[in-house]
Amino acid sequence: MKILLVGSGGREHAIAWKLAQSPLTEKLYAAPGNAGIAEVAECVNIGAMEFDKLIDFAKEKAIDLAIVGADDPLVAGAIDAFEAAGIRAFGPRKNAAIIEGSKAFSKDLMKKYHIPTAAYEVFTDAAEAIAYLETAKFPIVLKADGLALGKGVLICEDLLAAKAGVREIMEDKKFGSAGNTLVIEEFLTGPEVSVLCFCDGKTIKPMTSAMDHKRAYDGDEGPNTGGMGNISPSPYYTDAASDFCMEKIYKPTMAAMAAEGRPFVGVLFVGLMMTEDGPKVLEYNARFGDPEAQVVLPRMQSDLVEIMEHCIDGTLDEIDLVFDDGACATVVLASNGYPLSYEKLRPVTVEEGHFGQDGYYLFHAGSVRKDGVLLTNGGRVFDVTATGKDLKEAIDRAYAATEWVSFDNKYMRHDIGAKALQALQ
Ligand code: AMP
Ligand code: GLY
Repeated sequence: MKILLVGSGGREHAIAWKLAQSPLTEKLYAAPGNAGIAEVAECVNIGAMEFDKLIDFAKEKAIDLAIVGADDPLVAGAIDAFEAAGIRAFGPRKNAAIIEGSKAFSKDLMKKYHIPTAAYEVFTDAAEAIAYLETAKFPIVLKADGLALGKGVLICEDLLAAKAGVREIMEDKKFGSAGNTLVIEEFLTGPEVSVLCFCDGKTIKPMTSAMDHKRAYDGDEGPNTGGMGNISPSPYYTDAASDFCMEKIYKPTMAAMAAEGRPFVGVLFVGLMMTEDGPKVLEYNARFGDPEAQVVLPRMQSDLVEIMEHCIDGTLDEIDLVFDDGACATVVLASNGYPLSYEKLRPVTVEEGHFGQDGYYLFHAGSVRKDGVLLTNGGRVFDVTATGKDLKEAIDRAYAATEWVSFDNKYMRHDIGAKALQALQ
């Protein structure tokens, strides 16, 4: 098959790496890709939101399968556009991607179908939101309704901070039109678990679990980021939690979307919090996580192309997903200053002879090659990834591997997986 993967991050590098291993893959293109993706795919300089150009390219190359990695194009209808042009595509259509695109939609869906989540209210008027806050319990969580690069969530300790937050989101439009509608939510506590699930519109099959580290600095301090590191599996996701989620969250979500006339096909990312009252949904995403994909896919033994085909054909019930029994960890190498302000285009050196063997992977998140020289090209630059027989070994190996990559403003967290290891003891 000729496959076109749309996207340019570490997630797409991991997806491309996995697709390239499939005997079903005859030729792999990526748009726009990055310097790492270029090692496993032919990159074409078309942006993820340039639907007309993507479709022209797909027609010209007789693409058999288009795969869309990121939230923005999915929420804007990339799958619908490919399908309208007669191109088979993997991912949710626009009417299903709304499960990520609108937090008010997803909260209302969970309420209607009794899926466990934090209590909440939705507001389109700032004065009404503030009046509600006057009688609320703190801390409290404010969420811009729409997509905000994972940054549209504010946790407010008191009324003063919450009022300022409402103004930032709804009046100053800090997250643009994503803040026209505001969700105010009960504050939950507990460890967070990410579970990515393949879906064919009727059947849902969870992959192995993962655990993100969203804050920029060690000890879960500092601003929220897209994710600074990840481990799989999560020790907090017990067999009992997995059974509960299957019956009370995954299957009901699938059925709810179908009942609403929005069957979900693609990868549904369920962000969970393991509270004292059991697992609750923090958020849904309509795609693989980044960097969750970088720790889940190296553990996947099944053929990714085959699974995607079953999702599109509605026959996911016919296959089993197989993951290895070991573990995987990824440490993000970022440009110092991320996610606030940082410099790009710094030269990178990668020690030869390590990555691509023995379960060590260097997934590129933001890199570019100019005149043969590898340069940084983003806030998150690399996902240094390693497998191991258990979490401790995977984490130790991933940190050892961070030494093989240098650039002068390299920044990373030093405690990825540390809490999980403590929990295991
Ligand atoms: P979201 O984009 O909804 O996943 O929110 C981003 C992050 O904010 C989550 O990963 C949590 O760490 C935190 N968060 C979101 N909702 C809540 C909540 N109701 N209670 C506590 N923390 C939350
Ligand atoms: N790592 C979190 C996300 O992809 O949204």
